[in-house]
Formats: sequence, C-alpha cells, structure tokens
Amino acid sequence: MAIKHIKTPIRGLNLYLNKVVSDERGSYCDMAPGGTENELYADGIKHIHASIATKKFIPRGGHYHYKLRENFFTLSGTALWYFYDFNQNSPTYGESYAVILGHDELGVDVGIPEFTIYNNSAAQIAISPGVYHVFWPLTDMETVVAGTGSTEYDSEDYNRTEIKDVPGAIETFEKIKKKIMEHENQTSPAINIKSETMAQAGNKLTRKIKAIIPAAKNNQQRPFSHTINKHLIPLGGRPMIFYPIENLVESGIDQIGIVISKSDDVLKQVVGDGSRWGIEIEYIIQQELTGLGSAIMSARDFANGEPFILYLGDNIISYNVADLVNRYFEENLNALLLLAKVDCPQRFGVPEIVDDSIVRVEERPMHPKSEFAVAGVYIYDDNAFKAMDSIKLSDRGQYEISDIHNYYINSDLKLDYQEIGKWWKDRGKPEDLLEGNKFVLQNCVFKKNGEFIEGEIIGNAKVEGNVKIGKGARIVGKTLIRGPVVIGEGCLIKDSYVGPWTSIGNVSELNGVEIEHSLIMDNTNIFTKEKIVNSVIGRNASIVSGDDNLPRGKKVIIGENSIVGW
Ligand code: G1P
Repeated sequence: MAIKHIKTPIRGLNLYLNKVVSDERGSYCDMAPGGTENELYADGIKHIHASIATKKFIPRGGHYHYKLRENFFTLSGTALWYFYDFNQNSPTYGESYAVILGHDELGVDVGIPEFTIYNNSAAQIAISPGVYHVFWPLTDMETVVAGTGSTEYDSEDYNRTEIKDVPGAIETFEKIKKKIMEHENQTSPAINIKSETMAQAGNKLTRKIKAIIPAAKNNQQRPFSHTINKHLIPLGGRPMIFYPIENLVESGIDQIGIVISKSDDVLKQVVGDGSRWGIEIEYIIQQELTGLGSAIMSARDFANGEPFILYLGDNIISYNVADLVNRYFEENLNALLLLAKVDCPQRFGVPEIVDDSIVRVEERPMHPKSEFAVAGVYIYDDNAFKAMDSIKLSDRGQYEISDIHNYYINSDLKLDYQEIGKWWKDRGKPEDLLEGNKFVLQNCVFKKNGEFIEGEIIGNAKVEGNVKIGKGARIVGKTLIRGPVVIGEGCLIKDSYVGPWTSIGNVSELNGVEIEHSLIMDNTNIFTKEKIVNSVIGRNASIVSGDDNLPRGKKVIIGENSIVGW
C-alpha cells in the first residue's frame, strides 16, 4: 500500500511515505493508499480538518488527545514536527521524536530525519492518543496540514499542554532554528542587528535609482571565455547576466547601463534594449580594461551626478535590492556595501570591522582581517568618481574597487554595510559554474510560478521534481528526468537519466546517457554509456562512444585549458 513505513521510537506514531505524482501543474498525493481498506482508517473518519501555520518559526498544534487518532498530511510548506509520548500506559511513555516534513529541502543537515515531497513521497503521520504533537514552519511558505480524526471534534478530548512543559520540545526547536539561521544568514552576532533592519524593510523602491552592470569581456572563465563573454555563460539555461538584470527589474529599477568592451555586439544582441523586461538598457563602452574602477569611470555620464547601484554581472544574489536602496536613502549614506561570509576571503575584497564599522577594505589580502568578502553589489554616490582622481593602479594593473571604498572611509564619508546570506560569485573556475548552476536552480529558476513544461514528454518517459523543459523539446523512450533540472528548447532526450542539478542547453541531444550535477551548453550531442557527473561541457561539443569504430578507445579533441576526468 504505502511506499514506505517508518517506525518511530514512540508506540503508535508512524510515518508512511505515500506516492506523489508531480507535473507542471502541481502534485497529486495518494492520501489513503488502498482506499477505505487502509488500516489507518480502521476507526473511521469522523472529521477532516486543516491546520495552517503562517509564520516562520512560530509553532502551531501543541496538544494531544485522550481518545482520538489523527492522520496528517503536509500540503504546503516545510515544518519541524515534535512528538512526545504522554500516555502513561504506553511502553514508550516519555519518549520523544522529531522530524522535518515538507516541500523545501533545507539544504543544511540539522541532525534529524527530513522527508520532502521533492522526493516524490508525501509523509502521512499517524498519531495515537496520548502522543503530543506540535509543528513549526521552517521556511517563509505557509505550512498547510490536512488532518483526519477518528472521532468527532470534541473540545474535551484535547490536552493542550504548554510547549515549555513538553520535555525537549523547545530545546530541539531552538537547536534546529539556530542551524537554519546560520545557514541562511551566516551571520555573526555583531552583524545580526543590520540583518534585522533589512528584514523589516519593504521591497518597493522609495526613490528611483539607476543601475550599472560591469560586463566587459575577460578571460577569467577559461576555456569557455575564449569564445563567449563569460557573462553570457548559461546557468540554469539562461545567460548569467540575466539574473542580476532580473533582480534589479524585480526591485523596481528601470534604467540599467551595461558596461561592455568595444565591439561586444554579441552581448548587446543577447541582452537587447531591455524591452523584454519593460525597462531601458543602455550600453556603455569601457575604453581601458583596467579593473572595476575604470568600468565605473566609463559610466560617469550615465550616473549624471546621482547615486547609483553597481551590480557586478558575475554575481548572483537571491535578495531584493530595493531593501538596500531604501536603507541607503533613509540613512543618508554615501556608500552601502554588501558583505557575505566566505570560506576563503583571500580571493575577495575583505573588510576590517571595528565596533560595527568598516575601517578598511583590503583587496585579496594574504592575511584577511575578517571572514567576510565584499560582495559585488554596491550603492555609491558621486564620490565614487571623485575617488578615481586619487587612486592608483594596483600591482595587478587595476583600479581596485576596494581603493574606492578606502577613499570613502578616509574621507569620513558615511559608508555602511549589510550582510547577505545566499550569494554566488564566479571566481573563474569551471567548478564555480557548477555551483552557480545549482545556485540558480535552487534559488532563482523554480522560485517563480509559471509553466515549466513547454516541451513534450512522450510515452513512458518520466519527469520527477522541479523540471523545466523548453519549447519543442522531446523527452522520449525510457527517459527519467529527476529535478531540479532544466532542459533547453528543441532538445531530444532519449533513453537517458538526467539527474538533479543539471542544465542541458538548447538543441542538444542525449541518447542512452546517464548524467547528473552537470552543465551542458547549447547544441551538444552526447551518446555514451559512461556516466557523466560534475561536468561542464561547452557549446557545439560532442561526446560519443569510443567503441563504435576501431581502434577502440577514448578519442578526444580538446580545446585549450580543458580538463578531462577519465
Ligand atoms: C571584485 C572585487 C572584489 C569583490 C568581488 C566581488 O573581484 O575586486 O573586491 O570582493 O569583485 O564579486 P573580481 O571580480 O575581480 O574577482
């Protein structure tokens, strides 16, 4: 009947992972496999109810029954459930159990079992009398739980013991909340205060502001950047630069200047004049390719003496920048920087923070003074241009953005910061692209509502989880696609397995392939039985079986700076 039965340490408290079928319209959950024969309904169903928790980290439920048996199903949201056996006649009296059930994977190990609908099974929880239960939403989405009861609603049958009197409940919740917050915000106590200010801000711009996106060609993302401006490399099936643009558009910004190198017509063609987003995009040529300082300088006329937001085209934040802009104006700042905690600050601009203020920013320091990087989204006033009169080329031949920040600090201008949690930035390594692809699949592509399946799924081919299939694509034969996955337009995927965190570019063909956690660009053909993992494959590439023609063996034609893991 049920796909899987999970016993808990509490007698009579059981989890059943029932089947869920999902497609682009949503999910179908089998709530009572076997229908009225289902043993969980042996006592009958005398009432059906919904329990809705609307606030993250605020509990709902919090009771047990003397007589009633309940069955719960999570219909939306993700919550921590805590159970405690108050039934003195039960052999497991005093035992507790905690589990996370819902739709969003937390992405962090919180040390208790987690079951998600993403895995194509909805957890049904059967609760016997005397077992206390309470749940806390762990994400911003409402947690809607449908329940059935074996007796009619009876207010006398409730024991509403307070959570603080349930051994282990608050401690378990607080421990998990802390891990989630650390994961989401990676905040240090000193910086927490500023993150809270941000959470309260709205996400509508209170004042108009222009944005500048530096996106000149460079060779940082070899081998791919030999033939394509790295800002056009696709992540989640779309050029990297689309994510900064769309974040700005969603925040209400409607004038963007993109700084490009001379004759980068391809970027202009791909991005266009902004009309597809209902905004205006202007192109500004960067004459000297001497770092971000000179990119900013080229945009002086575009900024026209007004404050502006600078958003590096190889940075992706899943964060509404309107909040930042509003804070910048409300607090009359001269500059506002974003900071993110990173494992290796040596590769970034690093702030030194004393008494909650940035006293210096060092570019790529050998001995970083904090564990933060200055992320690539900044708000400046006209002083950014004035700074350029006094700063000099660095040892690596660039006008460094960190020197602009030091100019603000040394001139006693008001420079402040805001910490962000989720951030992706290209550092020029192919593995960054895999990380970026995963980041956008997780945080950008499937966060919006919309029709994700535009192509055809034919015959026995199956699609599970979050999957986007472009127009004209055909998924055929014994194919299984297990999301999060993006398949581009016009692809043919036959008898293949495409596993989580994979993007396949437009007009590509896969036949008999097993692939996961990979980024495949446009017009690529793959016909091989070797399993492909953690791979980035550029445009117009082919991978075919080496065994079809003699002599047998691996046959490769590899461009410069490529890497092959045999
Ligand atoms: C640039 C800046 C650095 C900043 C980073 C953020 O680095 O020089 O201070 O931390 O952007 O993306 P680059 O893009 O040159 O690696």
